[in-house]
Amino acid sequence: MSISAIIAAAGSGERFGAGIPKALIQLADRTLVQHAVSSLAPVVDQIIITAPSGFEAQISELVGEGIIVVTGGATRSASVRNGLAVATGEYVLVHDAARALASTDVASRVIAQLKAGAVAVVPALDVVDTIKVVDKQGFVVSTPDRASLVSIQTPQGFNTTALREAHASQNEATDDAALIEANGGAVKVITGEERALKITTPADLNTALSFLSLGSEIRTGIGTDAHAFGTGIPLWLAGLHWPGEEGVEGHSDGDVAAHAICDALFAATQLGDLGSNFGTDRPEYAGASGTRLMQEAYSMVTKAGFIISNVAVQIIGNRPKIAQRRAEAIAAISDALGGAKISVSATTTDGMGLTGQGKGIAAIATALVYKQ
Ligand code: CTP
Ligand code: MG
Repeated sequence: MSISAIIAAAGSGERFGAGIPKALIQLADRTLVQHAVSSLAPVVDQIIITAPSGFEAQISELVGEGIIVVTGGATRSASVRNGLAVATGEYVLVHDAARALASTDVASRVIAQLKAGAVAVVPALDVVDTIKVVDKQGFVVSTPDRASLVSIQTPQGFNTTALREAHASQNEATDDAALIEANGGAVKVITGEERALKITTPADLNTALSFLSLGSEIRTGIGTDAHAFGTGIPLWLAGLHWPGEEGVEGHSDGDVAAHAICDALFAATQLGDLGSNFGTDRPEYAGASGTRLMQEAYSMVTKAGFIISNVAVQIIGNRPKIAQRRAEAIAAISDALGGAKISVSATTTDGMGLTGQGKGIAAIATALVYKQ
């Protein structure tokens, strides 16, 4: 019994006002649509995303192979119909990318109800506010009993045939269950979750962040490295080769920026330091490039359950001049660290010390990480 999931992500996010589709807004380490994919992927067999027109390729690249991306429609219901056209599952979950943090657990509970025979299943929370029906002149018409009201979320689950029949009307509704209701179908309500809030405005993004509970597990680390210039050695710095510049003596390719970054990552994650991980007792790393060491450090940090929030590195020395190749250096380091946010700065030391007297290059790096 296979299960498809349609992630409605084709909205423009007008109320959010970011100037980009809401599904592409970043929340911690990934975009809203990527969060939605991560929570559904473990429990469904097929994922279909409805993308805003013109953003199909960008979304496809973000979510990777094996996920179908179709162009959405002018309304949410039209978008869902475009997804339904390619759904192959006997059951289908319909989910809003805007409810990015809905958990895998709520999706499993929806699926369990479908398997038990329900035609339509929706997660819901009790309403905390008193809700009133108001007329066009701004006067209250009635006050429904709050105890009988609930606030509806996604993912909603359906028997695919029943949802297709409900959508055949081509009607519009703000959720899919409403179309089933209009057809006389029974809609089962199960307990939703606060973290499945619909991200509508920038303030909602802050609430969503609090569900990721990053606050308690944020960690910072620092690392430094320095090497003296040699003679006839190529210079490697910040993952780049610098033709025409004298290189430095030192471990492997002497990339002080890469080494400082590795140390900062190990410090933040309490995984030791450059020496304990890549030192002389680990011959497999003898002569390894700075880039390779950063890749290894990234892999160790990730395996230990950490996500990199950002890494900043400052290069200290009279030369080379970093500014012209800053973007390249950022890209090289980011590539080695799984696409992490990187900044690269440089300074001189007013003629003082090893670096100021032009004897070598130093680097200092900080890393901010958090537990997954
Ligand atoms: N959606 C869609 N196709 C549309 C409109 C909306 O797939 N034509 C999706 C949105 O991407 C969102 C979900 O439906 O994940 C719920 O819609 P909403 O929260 O209203 O998002 P937006 O329409 O993007 O936001 P706004 O109404 O503020 O423009
Ligand atoms: Mg909308």
